[in-house]
Amino acid sequence: MPIVFAAAANHAPGITGRRDNAFPEQREVFFAAYAELRARLERARLDALIVVTAEHWTNFFLSNMPAFCVGLGESHVGPVEDEPFLKIPQARVPGAPVLARSVVDALGEAFDVAFSEELKLDHGAMVPLHLLVPSMAMPVVPIIINCLAQPMPRLGRCWQLGQALRAACATRPERIGLVCAGGLSHWPATPRSGKLNVEWDRAIVDALLAHDRQRLCAISDEEIVRDAGPGGHEIRAWAVLAGATDGEDGEVLCFEPIPAYAVTGAVVDMHVGGAGAVAAPADRLRDGSLPT
Ligand SMILES: [Fe+2]
Repeated sequence: MPIVFAAAANHAPGITGRRDNAFPEQREVFFAAYAELRARLERARLDALIVVTAEHWTNFFLSNMPAFCVGLGESHVGPVEDEPFLKIPQARVPGAPVLARSVVDALGEAFDVAFSEELKLDHGAMVPLHLLVPSMAMPVVPIIINCLAQPMPRLGRCWQLGQALRAACATRPERIGLVCAGGLSHWPATPRSGKLNVEWDRAIVDALLAHDRQRLCAISDEEIVRDAGPGGHEIRAWAVLAGATDGEDGEVLCFEPIPAYAVTGAVVDMHVGGAGAVAAPADRLRDGSLPT
């Protein structure tokens, strides 16, 4: 069936690890938005959640760096970060291996994605999961994007992955949610950490809401590094969401620059759960049938 929940949000480790360092009024707005998103996720009665996020040298290194990797595991352990740092206790998050294999198979029409039965989860998935599914009981299919090492997948390719995911999910019986978690501008692990480019961040969110493929996918890696720092490469997760929800309305629940978290705290919900649930275009279904 069509995707019934879709959202984008930040995953910066400071969100949980340095939660109280933000100004109280910023904290209030940001975490209220995440709480609202959680309430909407719960109303969507999901069977499984696909979490698209960035590689952070947790699973892969330069010896082998896939553009996209889908987690097929029965479960996923995370976070890899120490609890005193991230303030998230380690958990074993259930996987959704049948769904994950089906997604990999369906993506195979257009993408030769990597897959792994042993993906570990870091803050990229665990921060949004901690805030959206604190029980960690939701079956999760993680999808990791190379946002670290050149050559990275093009933004247009990430958009196409979103479209292919949309088609793959539409053939499945589960109620599936999609969370795409990545930073906007940020300069992690550099002396400029905490610097934000709020204007650039706003433009990315606006391009997502408008599904402005031309604008979003025309941004070069050189421009990203110049304007948004090395962490800006993580907008690939946002491009996946834009492709997966093309044509659907969305809503910014929060857009709050929070230097203490080293990101603009952005939470965006795409309105896909009602009558306008995200259906795959008929010509993208593998068997040629209309989505049900
Ligand atoms: Fe990240």
